[in-house]
Amino acid sequence: KENKGHISVVLLGATGDLAKKYLWQGLFHLYLNEVSSGHSFSFHGAALTVPEKAETLLFDALKSLSCPVDVHADRCALIKDQFLKLTRYRQLKTAENYTALHQDILASLAEEGLHEAGRLFYLSVPPFAYADIARNINGSCRPPPGAWLRVVLEKPFGHDYESAEKLANAMQTFFREDEIYRVDHYLGKQTVEQILPFRRRHHRHLDPIWNRHHVERVEIVMKETVDAKGRTSFYEEYGVIRDVIQNHLTEILTYVAMEVPRNLSDSNDVLRAKLELLGSLQPPEHNSAVIGQYQNYLPQVREEMEKNENYFTNTQTFAGVLIYIDNARWEGVPFLLVSGKDLDERTSYVRVVFKDNTFCVLQESKEETVKSSCQPKQIIFHIGNGALNSPAILLTRNLFKASFPLSQWKEASEFPNISYFGQPISDYYVWRPSQERDAYDVLISNIYRGRKGSFVTTKNLLASWKFWTRLLENLDETPRIYPGGAETGTMLDFLIEQRALRYVTDEPLEVISMG
Ligand code: BG6
Repeated sequence: KENKGHISVVLLGATGDLAKKYLWQGLFHLYLNEVSSGHSFSFHGAALTVPEKAETLLFDALKSLSCPVDVHADRCALIKDQFLKLTRYRQLKTAENYTALHQDILASLAEEGLHEAGRLFYLSVPPFAYADIARNINGSCRPPPGAWLRVVLEKPFGHDYESAEKLANAMQTFFREDEIYRVDHYLGKQTVEQILPFRRRHHRHLDPIWNRHHVERVEIVMKETVDAKGRTSFYEEYGVIRDVIQNHLTEILTYVAMEVPRNLSDSNDVLRAKLELLGSLQPPEHNSAVIGQYQNYLPQVREEMEKNENYFTNTQTFAGVLIYIDNARWEGVPFLLVSGKDLDERTSYVRVVFKDNTFCVLQESKEETVKSSCQPKQIIFHIGNGALNSPAILLTRNLFKASFPLSQWKEASEFPNISYFGQPISDYYVWRPSQERDAYDVLISNIYRGRKGSFVTTKNLLASWKFWTRLLENLDETPRIYPGGAETGTMLDFLIEQRALRYVTDEPLEVISMG
C-alpha cells in the first residue's frame, strides 16, 4: 500500500502524571485508529533526564495501555506490540538534542524511502519551559517544507491578561497561529463537544426559544469533592477562577451562548463566533461574584508550604460568578458559572432553564393551564460524574409539542429511574453517546486531523482573560469560609446561605449587594 507520509509524534514530559494517565493512552488509540490509514508513525517520549533513568519510567507507563472494549483482545495485543516498537525515549534538553532528533527522523525516513507528512510536539510541561522548547523546535527541529508542524500546549496559559499575552507573544515568535494547539480538555468532553452539533441539528426547534424571551437562566457548574491537598502552592497562585472558570467553564459558556455557524466543520467560523461572544460579555461588577474557601484549606497551606500560624490567605477554592451578555439574544439572561473544591458532590453540567410560560404542553383545556402541568422546562448538558455518571443531553418532554424529532433520543427506560433536577428521568428525552471516549482521546484525534475549532486560539484566550482579569481585580478581598465535604449542601444552597445571591426557582436569579 502506498505510504501517505510519516508522522513523528514527540511527547515532552513523557513520564509526567498527565502523560501517564491520559496522553499515552490517547496516542495509542490514535495509532490504533490510524494504523491502516496509509500513514506511518513514530513516537518519541521525551524528557530532560538521561535515558538510563527515564527509559524504565517510560516503559512502565506504557505497560498498562488498553484498547476500547470493541477491539478484539488479539488485535489489541498485536497493535500494542507494534506501538511499543515504534516508541523511543529521547532526552531533549539542549539545542544539540533537538538537532539530533531532527537528523534521526530524516535519516530513518530516507532509509525507509518515506516522505514526511508532519511533526506533532505535545508539550506536557510547565509553562516556564515553553519558551526554551519553542526556540529549540523552531531552530533545530522544524519539519521540511510541505510537512506540517503542530505544537500542543497545556494550561495554565498565564494567570492574567498581561502574563497570557506575554506567553502568547513568546510562542508567536517561533510559531504561526495555525501551528499552535492550546488544549482545554473540557473541549474534548463528549457532551461539550456535542453542544454545537446539538444546537445545529435541532436549530429549527431550538433557535426560536434559545434567547432572552424564553430562557430564564443558564447554570454552568463544575463541582468537585477533592480539595487542593498536594497542590496548595499551585492553588495559592491560581485559585479556582483561574484554575477552571476562566478556561473550562468559559469555553462551555461560549458554546451555549454563541451564534451557531451554518457549517460546523469550518473551524474559522466556529472560532470567530466564539470570539464574538467573548467580546460581548458585559464587564463584571463588584458584586458579580461570590467567593469561598473551604475550612481546611488554610491548615493545608500552612503545612504544605511550611508557613507559620500568622500566615493567612484569601485564595478562592469556590466561586459563583454571574455573567450577562450584551447582545440581542441574551440581554438580561443570567449565566451563573460555579465551581469549587471540597464540596458535597462531584458533577459537571450546563442547565438551561426555560421560563414557565414557554411552549407548555397543555394536557388540559386552555382555561386550566395550571402550573402543575408545567413542570420545569429545561435542557441539561450533563458533562460527567454526578447522578448520571456518564455524558448525556437531557431535554424535558414538556418543552415541545410532539413534533420534536424523537429518533435522536434514547428511551428513558434505559436509564436508572432517578430524579434529576426535580423531574423523574422518564420525563426527559435523553441522548447518550454510543461509546464513551476520554477527552484526551477526542482532542488528540482532533489535533491529528488539524481541527483547530476545538482548541484555544490566541485571540480567544486573550478575550477571555480580558473579562476575567477585570473580575479578578475587583474581587472581594475575603472569601467566605465553608465547611468541607458533605455538610456543605449544594453550592447553590451555599450561595443562598451566604446571602450573596438569591435563588428562587420561579423568579429570575437576582444579585443582592454584599455590602
Ligand atoms: C483541571 C484543574 O484543569 O481540571 C483541576 O486544574 C480539576 O483542578 C480538573 O480538578 C477537573 O477535570 P475533570 O476532567 O476531572 O473534571
